[in-house]
Amino acid sequence: MSTATKTIRDLTPAELQGKRALVRVDFNVPLDDAGRVSDDTRITAALPTITQLLDAGARVILLAHFGRPKGAPEAKYSLAPVAARLRELLPRPVHFLGETVGAAAVAATKALAAGEVLLLENTRFLPGEEKNDDALSRQLAELGDVYVNDAFGAAHRAHASTAGVARYCRPAVAGLLMEKELAYLGGALANPARPFVAILGGSKISGKIDVVEALLPKVDKLLIGGAMACTFFKAMGFETGNSLVEPDRLDMARDLLSRAGDKLVLPVDATIAPAMDAGAAASHVSRQAIPAGQAMFDIGPASADTYRALVTGARTVLWNGPMGVFEKPPFDAGTRAVALAMAAATANGATTIIGGGDSAAAVAEAGLESQMSHVSTGGGASLEFLEGKDLPGVSALDSR
Ligand code: 3PG
Repeated sequence: MSTATKTIRDLTPAELQGKRALVRVDFNVPLDDAGRVSDDTRITAALPTITQLLDAGARVILLAHFGRPKGAPEAKYSLAPVAARLRELLPRPVHFLGETVGAAAVAATKALAAGEVLLLENTRFLPGEEKNDDALSRQLAELGDVYVNDAFGAAHRAHASTAGVARYCRPAVAGLLMEKELAYLGGALANPARPFVAILGGSKISGKIDVVEALLPKVDKLLIGGAMACTFFKAMGFETGNSLVEPDRLDMARDLLSRAGDKLVLPVDATIAPAMDAGAAASHVSRQAIPAGQAMFDIGPASADTYRALVTGARTVLWNGPMGVFEKPPFDAGTRAVALAMAAATANGATTIIGGGDSAAAVAEAGLESQMSHVSTGGGASLEFLEGKDLPGVSALDSR
């Protein structure tokens, strides 16, 4: 975040005492088959902001989206299960209203006592939300006296509840999670302790090209993993068998290879198999030797060793995207090696940042979350931030 963005810590006691704090959170969490929240990381991450506002005597009204309903109510996208989990996590009265705006919602915000929380229904049940509709933005603004955006994970969306509402509800400031996310991600980009190593994985180079371009001038090393490595292999003239290759990105890959020099580090070997089945009979080959009929599903052990050494020797490490099909052993080894190396780097005093999405899931699965300096709650948002894009949910807020 530009350090110029105001946060709740800039508000005076009078701006909070007895006031209705309208807080946009990212409670877009997974549910299990019984309809219960199966991962409450994003809810837990918003608690410091909620608690601080309640402690300051505010009444807290929470706005959130859930899933991707098409601008109309759909029972399966109700935030009711999230309210149930929030009640378990927060030792304060938590009310839930099955509406988002309008007379009943405004009345509910006014009926709230200091120290109480009201979660309103899914903002995406409203047709104007994703259009950043001006009339809806005004209606949302009626729900609070001060607007707080703590939804880092949705900050790349210019929606009525993440951006438009800030035009009419002021002060409009960042919450503590938003502040922390931007401090870590922004700090790595602006002023990293060196060596600064970034690791990018995932299946497609097309989805990561902007972040590769943005990071290359800033990093000391950029390690590539995941199937996107195969597009580079093909561009280098290697046989890639059945591996996922983006033929329309070969020129882009060639261009990057010629410009990046030894900053760009590609796997030297691959874990291959005939199919991506869990427990498949996998083997390891050098990157020049992927045979016809087989595909790369993970980086190989020699690459994992190299990446481990580079990561443990770094002072700042930023990771986005798995090294292989980490949900399906034996293709999880490369991703696990990177996660363990990052934990070791943290223990050595490095700043280690997980850029959300699949890499955050992999770190959680390995039980290593607490051994990272920061695990972002945003997938798409952290990627766009790392690409250098403006986040509408942040730029809508007040400056100091
Ligand atoms: C996320 O889960 O990444 C955020 O909550 C944003 O959700 P969206 O991609 O549906 O806008």
